[in-house]
Amino acid sequence: MFDIIPGKKNIGAEIICDLKKINKYHIKKIKSALQKYGMLYFRKQNLNSKNYIKFAKNFGKLAEYPRLKGLNKKYSKITVVQRKASDKGPSFGEQFHTDSIYTKKPPRFTMLFSKLVPKKGKANTDFCSQYLAYEDLPTSYQKKLKNYKGNYSSEGPISITTQERVKEKGKINKELKSKHNIIRKIYSKYTIYCSPGHFVGFNSKQNREQKLEKYLFNHQIKKKFQFSLEWEKNQLAIWDNRSMLHQATSFKGNRIMHRITIQ
Ligand SMILES: [Fe+2]
Repeated sequence: MFDIIPGKKNIGAEIICDLKKINKYHIKKIKSALQKYGMLYFRKQNLNSKNYIKFAKNFGKLAEYPRLKGLNKKYSKITVVQRKASDKGPSFGEQFHTDSIYTKKPPRFTMLFSKLVPKKGKANTDFCSQYLAYEDLPTSYQKKLKNYKGNYSSEGPISITTQERVKEKGKINKELKSKHNIIRKIYSKYTIYCSPGHFVGFNSKQNREQKLEKYLFNHQIKKKFQFSLEWEKNQLAIWDNRSMLHQATSFKGNRIMHRITIQ
């Protein structure tokens, strides 16, 4: 059984299969679907950490997450993203962002595998296609933004939500900073590559930047580019960090995700 069910407007797709039984041909199909839809999810996967790592390695070299320690010595590339019912404040990742943009070489892909989730539909991850956001930009903005770089920081707007977990399990690390082009070409298509959650300013001397920043952020996250992924236990999702923004929706409850990023 292997089936691809695209989401509305081709934003995201569900793949129906058993990830423990797929072969090279399926991996090829999965990779091209990932290019096309930006995010894929696989329900009802009975994977242990070994299976999970094995699947992830098909997409490239596994990355270290700079802000949190690994699951254990053996599976140091799996990080635990946890929300507790007792947590105050927003959830981890509760603002549109792309992962680790504050590093020089951010990971291309992120994977989450759900171990514990609240009721279905109560704690979603929203995805937002930046291919569509780019296509929908007026030509004048498409041109203008090609000359811009964004500055990013691990201490950017979203970081407050990260701090509780980092305090518990974190590595001690200093602020990480980076600079990247706002418009990028990925697989021969242009995309907006800008993480509102980590953005600290444009790298340009032009005026009216705040106006441009506001315009860009509003545009990037329009509902028409979005897909809201509902979680259930044992569900795996993978997305392309360069062409999709994502955010956790706000919820109260316990949630545990095992995360892998791919360089
Ligand atoms: Fe994230």
